[in-house]
Amino acid sequence: MPAIDWANLRFGYSDTDYNVRCRFENGKWGEIEVSTSPTIELHMAASSLHYGQEVFEGLKAFRGRDGKIRVFRLEENARRIIESAKGLIMEPIPEELFIEMIKKVVKLNERFVPPYESGASLYIRPLEIGTSARIGVSPASEYLFIVMVMPVGPYFKEGVKPTKVCISREYDRVAPKGTGRWKVGGNYAASLQSGEMAHRLGYSSMLYLDPKEKKYLDECGPANFFGIKEGKYVTPASESILPSITNKSLMQLAKDMGMEVEQRHIPIEELSEFTEAAACGTAAVTSPISEIDDLDTGKKYVILNSNEPGPVVMSLYNKLRAIQYGDEPDSYGWVTVID
Ligand code: PLP
Ligand code: COI
Repeated sequence: MPAIDWANLRFGYSDTDYNVRCRFENGKWGEIEVSTSPTIELHMAASSLHYGQEVFEGLKAFRGRDGKIRVFRLEENARRIIESAKGLIMEPIPEELFIEMIKKVVKLNERFVPPYESGASLYIRPLEIGTSARIGVSPASEYLFIVMVMPVGPYFKEGVKPTKVCISREYDRVAPKGTGRWKVGGNYAASLQSGEMAHRLGYSSMLYLDPKEKKYLDECGPANFFGIKEGKYVTPASESILPSITNKSLMQLAKDMGMEVEQRHIPIEELSEFTEAAACGTAAVTSPISEIDDLDTGKKYVILNSNEPGPVVMSLYNKLRAIQYGDEPDSYGWVTVID
């Protein structure tokens, strides 16, 4: 097998040695299976294929300077996939089972955790699907939970270089009281048209507005949004966005750095008051935003005047990465060492 070019990895799928699986059948979760196959056998009428009973997660493992492997906030992802599953009337994966399977799959694929110096990480993708045959619209009684892993580099090819994003009122990703607060495949299907449009026009992603009034900022492609204004960390409060674990962590780090944190509705016009802005998430980490173009009104909100990230976003980014890679103490117990 050719050697992996760790420093030039993109965010994408690649095969690794193992994945782990567990089935819910006859009213209970079975034994954990270790598989070397990247494929699954599925009933053609499975509820996941026809009616979208599918939820997933995204988290990362990092190799430290000390050689140890650390997984970031896996308990939070365990809790969130339970909420997502409940949202689609799926069988929630018990938290302990989720955690055990993550630890197992990372350990089994240890050789794919990128070296410290590369700045890359191991992306962990848990996935749950309804497997029972359903033609009438109703929830499955059987489920399959799989955890796969793969080494990845930055989500936006620019890495921590600032990128432009855009606003459009032509498409909604989610409904006002719909599935936006859960991590379900359908939300991403609904974002493909607008995401591709943004890319075609040269933007790294779409900055979605609240789907009800289209007055407030919601989130930024597959990531939350935050802005910096008068030394404050400002991020949207909304029922239609995914509660990002990265954003939650950054809010804590911002407070620790002495900043005030505001989680509230952010009217679009307030963009002109931000001195920095970024998209944040497991894949995106913190990706600085240089400019936000409103495609409907033609208004351009220039956030950064140079092609360098601003100081606050950069220090939050460095602080988060230092905890994830074990360079700084983990004072909140965010990290699980795999041994
Ligand atoms: N928002 C959406 C729509 C996402 O897909 C993600 C990625 O998981 C996030 C936000 C960021 O969430 P987290 O920081 O928990 O990865
Ligand atoms: C993540 O940040 O983990 C995500 O899930 C984003 C993704 C949909 C690529």
